Amino acid sequence: MTGKNATETLTADAAGVARAAEILRAGGLVALPTETVYGLAARADSDGAIARIYEAKGRPSFNPLIVHVADLAQAERLARFGPVARDLAEQHWPGPLTLVLPRRAEAKLAPAVSAGLPTVALRCPAHPAMRAVLEATGVPLAAPSANRSGYVSPTSAAHVLETLDGRIDAVLDGGPCLAGLESTIVAVREDGRVDELRPGPIIVAPRDFTARERRIEAPGQMASHYSPGKPVRLNALSFKKDEFAIGFGDMPADCNLSVSGDLKEAAALLYACLYEAARSAKPRIAIASVPDEGLGRAINDRLRRAATPPD
Ligand code: TXA
Ligand code: MG
Repeated sequence: MTGKNATETLTADAAGVARAAEILRAGGLVALPTETVYGLAARADSDGAIARIYEAKGRPSFNPLIVHVADLAQAERLARFGPVARDLAEQHWPGPLTLVLPRRAEAKLAPAVSAGLPTVALRCPAHPAMRAVLEATGVPLAAPSANRSGYVSPTSAAHVLETLDGRIDAVLDGGPCLAGLESTIVAVREDGRVDELRPGPIIVAPRDFTARERRIEAPGQMASHYSPGKPVRLNALSFKKDEFAIGFGDMPADCNLSVSGDLKEAAALLYACLYEAARSAKPRIAIASVPDEGLGRAINDRLRRAATPPD
C-alpha cells in the first residue's frame, strides 16, 4: 500500500469521502483535512495500519498518536471520562481540543497507538470532510500531523505531498485549514486535575490548570520540531538580506503572518509561511516577535521548536 505507489489526490466530495473510507477500512493511509492541520489517518484498531503511520512519517515509536472519534459516545468506549473530562468534551467538541485520559482495558485500539502508555489521547474534530470520513469508516482513526517526523505541520494538501508523496495511499484535499495550529492537549487526571500538555487554539481557562514545570509528558513535545530545515532567528527587529523575513504587524517582509497584528490570522498562516521559507533560495529565516498572550502562546511554542536545531 505505502512505498513506491503513487499517492492519489481525492476531492472532498461524496465520492472522495467514500474512496478515503474504503482505503482506510482496508488498512491504508489517507491524509485528511481537519480544522487544525492535515492528519495522516489510519484505523486505530489495526496494528498493521498503525505501523504504517510510524513508517511513513519516520516517527519514533515512543511518540503516541491522537485518536479521532465521531462523537463523545465513541470516545467513552475507549477511555474513562470523569465529570471534568465530560464537561470539557461537551464544551469544546467537536473542535481543536485533545483530551488525554485513562485508556479502557477493553478498548479496541492497537497497542502502538498509545506507545505503551496507560492513557489515550482523544479528539473529536470539527472539519466536515474529516467528520464525513469518520462516519463512513465507522471506526476511530489515529492521525498525527501529516508530515515527515520533525518537519513543519501541513495546512494544505500541497504541504502534505511535499514530504509524504509516494509514501501514503491518498490525500483528501479539503483546502487550507482554518485554525492552522495543532489542537490544545490537556491531560485530565483521575482526581479531576487538568494539566496543559500543548498550548493550541482552545484556551482553557488558567484556573482549570494546575501549575507544573514543563515536563515533557506528551512525548512528541521535543525541543526541536516543526523544523523548516534552515536556521531560524526569533524576535527579529530587522531583517538581513540573506534571511527569509516573516513579519507580524505592519512591516515589509517576504511573508507576513498578519499585517494588522491579528493572532488568529497569524496562527492560520504560520505553517504556510514556514513552508514558503523552506522552499525559498534564502539560506536562513528570521521571524518578528509575536505577543506571548492568548493564541500567541501556542504560536510562540511552535516558533521556539522551529528555531531549535535538531540533535
Ligand atoms: O490538531 C491536532 O492535534 C492534529 C490533528 C491531525 O488532529 N494532530 C496532531 O498529532 O498534532 P501529532 O501526532 O502531531 O501530535 C500528537 C501529540 C504528540 O505530542 C504526542 O506525544 C501527544 O499528542 N500524545 C498522544 N498520545 C498521548 C498520551 N497518551 N499522553 C500524552 N501525550 C500524548
Ligand atoms: Mg506533529
